Amino acid sequence: MSAFIIISVDGPSASGKGTIARRLANRFHLSYLDTGALYRAVAKHILDQKKNPDNPEDAVSSAIYVRDHLSWEMLEDQALFNDVIADATSRSCRFAAVREILKETQRQHAQHPPYKPGQRTWSGSILDGRDIGTIICPDATIKFFVTASTEVRAKRRTLELQKKGWETNYETVLQDMIDRDNRDKNRSVAPLLPADDAIILDTSELSPDEVFEKACQFIHKELS
Ligand code: C5P
Repeated sequence: MSAFIIISVDGPSASGKGTIARRLANRFHLSYLDTGALYRAVAKHILDQKKNPDNPEDAVSSAIYVRDHLSWEMLEDQALFNDVIADATSRSCRFAAVREILKETQRQHAQHPPYKPGQRTWSGSILDGRDIGTIICPDATIKFFVTASTEVRAKRRTLELQKKGWETNYETVLQDMIDRDNRDKNRSVAPLLPADDAIILDTSELSPDEVFEKACQFIHKELS
């Protein structure tokens, strides 16, 4: 592979987009940015400051903090990955000013991925999120939109949370997921949407290996 490539992977929560993006990053030597973690870091900062994720001024000041202090450690903080933070994230990231503050950060990362200890040179970058193919990287080399039925996603998320020791059940997770999907799809700024030229990967009936192989086939075809 010679030219620097950019791959976007969008989709709703628990669709499997993070798993596939990580595996593709390893296979093709791509820098991986989980943009959900970026917005989660904003929400965590708001909550740590005892501020309100529904208040645009609080959300903006935390977005500026995250932009100015961003590091790999911040994005990999395991405290970001729980449903309390997820709920606050989908509230605080709907403000246009918040998304604008983090837009350039994401584009820079896509085009000029930062050094990561232990990593040799990158062949490209892969970003996952909700609006990567539509807004952040509209010229991405390849765009994937990974999805699955709400019920399948809620089952996956319930198992994942229970494995981590969280006390929860399918009904609660399903309702949270429906609420969060609605907020992500119906917000006026950068809603969750497949780009017109996105390849749709429905993971409802496929194993992670099958999804990965399918995505690899598309990439090889596109690059040949
Ligand atoms: O992907 P993840 O579940 O970690 O994202 C958490 C929340 O962050 C989403 O529900 C969505 O509200 C928001 N998000 C977003 N745009 C992105 C990535 C995530 O609005 N590019």
